[in-house]
Amino acid sequence: MLIIAKHAAGKVLKKDNLQIASEAKLAKKMDPRTIDATSGMFYYDNYFQGFKTVEKILNSLTDEEFYAYSASDGGFEFKEAVLNWVFDSYLSELRATTHIQVLATPGGTGAIFSSLFNSLDPEETVLFPNLYWAPYLGIAINLGFKTKTYPLFSDKSFNITGFKEAAEELIQKQGKLVTIINDPCNNPSGYSLSETELREIIVFLNNSGVPCTLIYDIAYLDFAAEDQLRFRKNFKILSEAGSNVLISIAFSASKTFSVYGQRLGAQIIMSKNEESASEFYNASNFTARNTWSNVNKGLINLLIKINKDQELKKQILDELAFVKGIIKERAQIFLKEADSVNLSTYPYKSGFFVSIPVANRDAVLDALIKEEKIYLIPGTDSIRLAFCSVPATELKGLAERIKKVIDQVLI
Ligand SMILES: Cc1ncc(COP(=O)(O)O)c(C=O)c1O
Repeated sequence: MLIIAKHAAGKVLKKDNLQIASEAKLAKKMDPRTIDATSGMFYYDNYFQGFKTVEKILNSLTDEEFYAYSASDGGFEFKEAVLNWVFDSYLSELRATTHIQVLATPGGTGAIFSSLFNSLDPEETVLFPNLYWAPYLGIAINLGFKTKTYPLFSDKSFNITGFKEAAEELIQKQGKLVTIINDPCNNPSGYSLSETELREIIVFLNNSGVPCTLIYDIAYLDFAAEDQLRFRKNFKILSEAGSNVLISIAFSASKTFSVYGQRLGAQIIMSKNEESASEFYNASNFTARNTWSNVNKGLINLLIKINKDQELKKQILDELAFVKGIIKERAQIFLKEADSVNLSTYPYKSGFFVSIPVANRDAVLDALIKEEKIYLIPGTDSIRLAFCSVPATELKGLAERIKKVIDQVLI
């Protein structure tokens, strides 16, 4: 007798990043020599601390600003705050060339869920690269969608040919295309698309002759470059999308403001076609109200306060710059050593993670734990190391230790 719904039967959360990270944390507590390179949160040297400016703003909120319900889409002031943060000085230019809608979501995860839920029907297929953030697959499975992947890299750059071939196949089969790209600072590789690569994707979608949705996941936008505007220029490229294309951007406040468990993000909808943008917004807002209802009021007000006060914004940007500097230094240490011991990695540009291609992933991960007490995250034929959570001192010598274990497993 089946009590559970047919669609829910057999679903189990296995090898989940958050679960592996909590196992690694426990191991580190028992033995401080453990290397925990699992967590997608920024840690100073083995301790977590929120941004001082965030703390100051949250502590200044009135009870109502902190505890009340928020509007299901976050409300007008929040929407303006998100658009100003994400698009920055490009906002007015973008508004002049494309229709923009926005709503609050519980993290970038909520924005990806809503984008997928509202762009596909059951049994239809979403396309993303073979190196991907695991919940893309989980959300698709949970919603009854199929998935298709293509190799993210061709040599050291984005595999545009592989993307086009896979997309073309889907277009022929289902007469539409829904695809997810996590950029810049792709999780798990640390790669960022060049302007040419991103433009080539947009041109392909424009010429596809079918309805396309590009879910552009910008979880790590604020960690991509010292110059905050450098990768925001990408939104101008996205605004070149034609009226057959809808762009749904998933913004994560978790990463930008170091407020991971507090759950705030935003879904920003862009289209040349006003009706498509409004329709997608309406459906997404319906999804929001009838799935999670509304999101963290305190964080909604955090963004509103930052938007209204340039001094607060500057303070946040300074804190972000400091964090970016630490991550960059950690990455340099590891990558330089990886190079000198011939440990190959996928092409890293910036951000929280780097990935190492390995043939026998599970055996390597087990051996890393058993022999070296090193905890990493599994990916497709690869293992992911988080620069965001490992101190520089622990990164020294790590490439050699990992290389040794990989070589041993290969024998
Ligand atoms: C690629 C990617 N997208 C989206 C998210 C969403 O994060 P959150 O829901 O905490 O904003 C994450 C978090 O790890 C991520 O790595």
